[in-house]
Amino acid sequence: MCGIVGYVGSKRAQDVVVEGLRRLEYRGYDSAGVALVDGSGRIATDKRAGRLANLEKAIDENPLPDATTGIGHTRWATHGAPNDVNAHPHLGATGRVALVHNGIIENFAMLRAELERDGVEGVSETDTEVAAQLLEREVLAGADLTTAMRAVVRRLEGAFTLVAVDAGDPDRVVAARRNSPLVVGLGEGENFLGSDVAAFIEHTREALELGQDQVVTITRDGVEVTGFDGSPAEGTRYHVDWDLSAAEKDGYDWFMRKEIFEQPRAVTDALLGRHSETGRLQLDEVRISEDELREVDRIVIIGCGTANYSGLVAKYAVEHWTRVPCEVELAHEFRYRDPILTRNTLVVAISQSGETADTLMAIRHAREQNAKVLAICNTNGSTIPRESDAVIYTHAGPEIAVASTKGFITQMIACYLLGLYLAQVRGTMYGDEIAAVVDELRRIPGHVEGELAKAEEVYALARDLSAAPAVLFLGRHAGFPIALEGALKLKELAYIHAEGFAAGELKHGPIALVEDGLPIFCIVPPRGRDQLHAKMLSAIQEVRARGARTIVLAEEGDTEVGSYADTVLSLPRVPTLLQPLVAVVPLQLFGCELATLLGNDVDQPRNLAKSVTVE
Ligand code: F6R
Repeated sequence: MCGIVGYVGSKRAQDVVVEGLRRLEYRGYDSAGVALVDGSGRIATDKRAGRLANLEKAIDENPLPDATTGIGHTRWATHGAPNDVNAHPHLGATGRVALVHNGIIENFAMLRAELERDGVEGVSETDTEVAAQLLEREVLAGADLTTAMRAVVRRLEGAFTLVAVDAGDPDRVVAARRNSPLVVGLGEGENFLGSDVAAFIEHTREALELGQDQVVTITRDGVEVTGFDGSPAEGTRYHVDWDLSAAEKDGYDWFMRKEIFEQPRAVTDALLGRHSETGRLQLDEVRISEDELREVDRIVIIGCGTANYSGLVAKYAVEHWTRVPCEVELAHEFRYRDPILTRNTLVVAISQSGETADTLMAIRHAREQNAKVLAICNTNGSTIPRESDAVIYTHAGPEIAVASTKGFITQMIACYLLGLYLAQVRGTMYGDEIAAVVDELRRIPGHVEGELAKAEEVYALARDLSAAPAVLFLGRHAGFPIALEGALKLKELAYIHAEGFAAGELKHGPIALVEDGLPIFCIVPPRGRDQLHAKMLSAIQEVRARGARTIVLAEEGDTEVGSYADTVLSLPRVPTLLQPLVAVVPLQLFGCELATLLGNDVDQPRNLAKSVTVE
């Protein structure tokens, strides 16, 4: 949520900053702006409402002066409409400092009133401008930018990353973070700041992770980190192990489509090194002792949106394998309802970005109640894993499209691995049973590959249904969360009314929605010993009898579904508990294609942002 870039070096700062913003635009795209300092004693700035392209066009037509220091911002609006005035950077009252911000300054009204009493008027409706004005007041009183930043952040409440430049000190960029992401890129004779490493991956893969409540100053040749109080601190250095091509579209029309097609590899990477040849789980990263894991008497999985759905999928497997009660809850609901937690509760926090504020606040609350927190996360060094007792990284590689796809599939894989590991440690499954599931998991990349090879079938269906005003999704058991996920993809990408329901719930209300021609995707569980399959077929008959157009996802060779389906999308044979891994793929392809046909921006859907860093 909001992308931030800072640069000091010898290259043209405008190019470095704008390029960084392009790679961060998925974090927010309501407006964009840059500020450059060139030693002339003035700050050159331009900022525009709308996509980054608007800013690029503006600075193409009216070039900014050459400078080698600069900051930039791409915004997801919180306070104030997304217009030119509210766009960042914000300047202090005299234009001496410029500042960009990600987050929310909760006490900004009080600070604004204080500034107004001193005769400092704002021009925007943002909370950010007060930080710029306070910073400038410190600088004008004689503080250097770093000292000024420390003084200001001590007065701020809320969540923020701030990055600032001072016209009087052109070789320095200063930043601060609390509850909001910021990483440093370490170059030769140049240094970078970014909301994530994508901002500078083109220039360096050496990065520095910052801790909570820290201020960092970058110059051409140095990086200095301190606490808000000025006490010396050190970041943690790491090497980014993905390269530029991971942040490029590679010939695909959308990052989302590329990321859907990357799923076979992502699943392979998520499984890599986590089991032995004989199918024994090796999750060394779960740094919670086996004794403690044996004492766990309740598992609570938390997350938001798609991450929450991966938890819902996991519940079926985890309870079945471990016999430990497992609840799944939206992180924001969990946080503010006084949940009962003990030292024997294992809280599993799922987050692709590792920065989702709702999830972060929930894990802090859980740890305060002495629960153990294990994160499942895709972003190395992000806040949620740092503040958890242990982390299983999903290794999906950078997910740039706002709608999660490979992030989701690898979250499910990590949950399955965790469930099997707990079963192994607690002895609730025999080794050969675990090995059999691991074997099935190892076949998933091939199965997903098979689903992707049939993409054209799904695209044809999307063309056929492109005028549908609403679409429903039905599932049962582990297929139910996939119905929710299919619907979420359509809401966020195609902006059409879409709902997912548990098929058993239909006759308790939702069936009233069914009318002639309404498309309903029905995820049919594999034929097995239980009655799920038959019950799902009954639900399909019920909606078809009322005129629905049924699109049935069923395992290959399931001849029974033919008579109830207007369209059949076949799925490979996998156990019921693992079926979500394959069933989600056609739904992702459908959402992506339908939104493309409707002319929507698939990677950056309206009103959304990747990485929701405000509560
Ligand atoms: C939907 C989507 C969101 C995220 C949610 C949580 O496609 O991407 O629903 O899943 O905002 O984000 P993370 O996983 O980063 O915590």
